[in-house]
Amino acid sequence: MVLTRRDFLLAGTAAGAIVGGAVLVPIGFVLSDDYGGSGATAARLATFPRARVASFADLQIGEPVWFDYPFEGASNLLVRTGEPVLAGIGPDRDLVSYSNQCTHMGCPITEYRPDEHVLGPCPCHYSSFDLSRDGIATFGQATQNLPRVLLEIDGDDVYAMGVFRLIFGHDDNLAGEDLVTVGEEMGA
Ligand code: FES
Repeated sequence: MVLTRRDFLLAGTAAGAIVGGAVLVPIGFVLSDDYGGSGATAARLATFPRARVASFADLQIGEPVWFDYPFEGASNLLVRTGEPVLAGIGPDRDLVSYSNQCTHMGCPITEYRPDEHVLGPCPCHYSSFDLSRDGIATFGQATQNLPRVLLEIDGDDVYAMGVFRLIFGHDDNLAGEDLVTVGEEMGA
């Protein structure tokens, strides 16, 4: 399946495309020689596992839950910001999830400042990221947004459905990794 750039942008602002029950997430562009040699660009798509992350009722505003997805070692945080934010889901549009691996050089960031919805500063070179604005880098050496974990709420269960943008150090979020099992509950 080949998406146009317009399809890619639309999918990126939503939750990816659901095709045949699988979640296809655009993670980048490639020249389309592999798709017919037109010289145009085509979206790279990835099919991710669906993994239970948390109970929505157990989530406390401003208190992150930490989990690995889509493979062991790919760490993320899930947090309710307490107010509607970009890409937030749930009844208050305040539930978001991002990789906590810094997009500068990959250091794990474990400090979350709930009053500002900011992840950071990074312990290596002090980059910070605004989780209310799609994980944009707001300070320091990093120039790229954090990868965003696509979420779904089903009843009281919060599921990870995919990762938008490449995880630091990977040119494919899924290749060669030991993926979590569909429906598996992740450690908090
Ligand atoms: S690794 Fe985070 S700012 Fe350098």
